[in-house]
Amino acid sequence: MKIVSIVGTRPQFIKLAPIAWRAKEICEHLIVHTGQHYDPLLRDVFFSELNIPNPVENIISGSGTHSEQTARMLIGIEKILVRLKPDKVIVYGDSNSTLAGALCASKMNITVGHVEAGLRSFNQNMPEESNRIISDHISNVLFAPTAKAMTNLEREGLTNKSLMVGDLMFELLNKFDSKITRLEQENKNGKIFCTIHRAENTDSPEKLSYIINRLSKSNLQIDLFVHPRLLARSKLFGIDLNQGKINLKDPISYVDTITTITKYNGVITDSGGLQKEAYFLSVPCLTVRNETEWPETFKNNWNRLDPGLAYILENWWELPGEKPSISEYGNGDTSSKILEALIKK
Ligand code: UD1
Repeated sequence: MKIVSIVGTRPQFIKLAPIAWRAKEICEHLIVHTGQHYDPLLRDVFFSELNIPNPVENIISGSGTHSEQTARMLIGIEKILVRLKPDKVIVYGDSNSTLAGALCASKMNITVGHVEAGLRSFNQNMPEESNRIISDHISNVLFAPTAKAMTNLEREGLTNKSLMVGDLMFELLNKFDSKITRLEQENKNGKIFCTIHRAENTDSPEKLSYIINRLSKSNLQIDLFVHPRLLARSKLFGIDLNQGKINLKDPISYVDTITTITKYNGVITDSGGLQKEAYFLSVPCLTVRNETEWPETFKNNWNRLDPGLAYILENWWELPGEKPSISEYGNGDTSSKILEALIKK
């Protein structure tokens, strides 16, 4: 049984890790990298740190408009799948790499499994929302991380090809538990861990300068880990990121992130993965969006939607409520469930 995983962005490398590790024991597993993320800080560091085998094929899709980027990936993936002749393909999440991988494999009549199926923001303006919906409808097996995702798939008539398997990021984080120091709020570093990268927050000069201005007025120092998209857009719009309480940092690796955020009093982000990691690790989070695909994290106010950063002037990081027991994201055996179901299909 030959399974090919198609990945291209930082969060996909993270989700790939538990699948690559488990696959070593039960099947032939090859990795194709679409080239969507090409900076070493967004790519190489994850493969080496998480001990993921090197991709067997790299496409150079690079950046560009959504259509240009997706089209370059489609052409590259097709050539590679013709050569590799996989029995099954796995795609992850909701990026342009997900859509290109699912579309290409589906048109070649290769069985496709979609990991993180059923997530919906119900905001059609997000490029990720169309990527998810299309990938779910054309894939053959849908791996839903949560009960809410299963409900979304049911609403779209997709139940009979869906399976609730839990969350790969939850599984991965548990593997590093012994490296993580959990601190009480009073022993933390008095800072906020912050990332902003979504198109909805970075692609208009008005919105981006509003967000940077609000962050600069925070009560606590903000360590802003700068994603290349934020850097590119701020340069283009002439917006200085280095203002007031903001302290600029380069993006950091997966293990550094999960072992560092517990030292911070809070997280401010528009990343789906970081929202979940903050919740798993009981770090209060403000999500700079109007909606989230991970509503389970709202429990006891550990995550709050704050698109206009209204809470920034308050002590929002003070303990929101009782720490939730994390029961909604599976048992830490998601990779086995995914691979076993796909092999049987
Ligand atoms: C993509 C995904 C998003 C995911 C994010 C994780 C889509 C539509 N979006 O967004 O869902 O949350 O990855 O990080 O697929 N750039 C670099 N170096 C790189 C990659 C990008 O400088 O290695 C810069 C370029 O200016 C590029 C911009 O970042 O135009 C955006 O990159 P792109 O891959 O289009 O989307 P992301 O914002 O990274």
